Amino acid sequence: MSLLTAKTIQKKFGGVIALNDVSLTVDKGEIVGMIGPNGSGKTTFINNLSGLYAPTKGQFIFNDEDITGLPAHVITGKGISRTFQNLRVFPNITVLENILIGLHCRIDTSLWDVYARFLKTRRVEHQAKKKAMTVLELAELSDSQGILAKNLPYGKQRLLEICRAIVSDPYLLLLDEPCAGMNPVEMDDLADFIKLLQTKGITVFVIEHNMRFIMSVAQRLIVLANGSKFQEGTPTQIQNDKDVQAIYLGDEGDL
Ligand SMILES: Nc1ncnc2c1ncn2[C@@H]1O[C@H](COP(=O)(O)OP(=O)(O)O)[C@@H](O)[C@H]1O
Ligand SMILES: [Mg+2]
Repeated sequence: MSLLTAKTIQKKFGGVIALNDVSLTVDKGEIVGMIGPNGSGKTTFINNLSGLYAPTKGQFIFNDEDITGLPAHVITGKGISRTFQNLRVFPNITVLENILIGLHCRIDTSLWDVYARFLKTRRVEHQAKKKAMTVLELAELSDSQGILAKNLPYGKQRLLEICRAIVSDPYLLLLDEPCAGMNPVEMDDLADFIKLLQTKGITVFVIEHNMRFIMSVAQRLIVLANGSKFQEGTPTQIQNDKDVQAIYLGDEGDL
């Protein structure tokens, strides 16, 4: 069953057409990968889906609802979480606090009812901490809860960022080049973690440049080139596709 349907998405930046007629579906429970040379529109696709920008044309249907162009926080509330291509961990607060920030939007902190808030906040904070710890345990980061995020190894910081994205229990998790800068061991750990998230019922849409990684996690791959959908298939089909190999010539990708 389709969780997400993108219909003929177009995004123009002035005269530049960054996305042109991109249509795709993501089924519930799938891990779908998106690949393509630098500048092919991968991040722009996620930015449009997650509400950072509104598409110039086209529609995003999520859980049978048209979410096209809704503000980012509304889209998050509907169950789509994301990470960014550049690491966005807060370095000078603890690992646990980094996760609690991801829950902030769920905590009712209305200031005008101070007394009710006082009683409620204690309870909510307790629940929030419990929830955050569950997620940290999943990523085997609970022992590091009290250390500053900057003191985690790089690969763990990237896992922490994903933990922050999943603490709000999204249906769909969008990852933008999650293994950028990781060493091969960290990449394997990340691949295992993404597959673990799938077993917990989270659908994953992952952009990645590293073919070894994407081949090991994705069940289906969508290839973008020059803003258009170029090809779609199983990782093996895509890896053996001569046309796909050709568009990677001269790119730093390693198809
Ligand atoms: N905010 C923006 N303003 C203008 N052009 C943009 C913006 N974001 C992306 N682009 C352009 O859109 C194209 C696709 O970029 P991007 O989605 O970042 O590619 P990818 O993630 O595949 O490397 C590029 O030509 C890029 O310069
Ligand atoms: Mg990008």
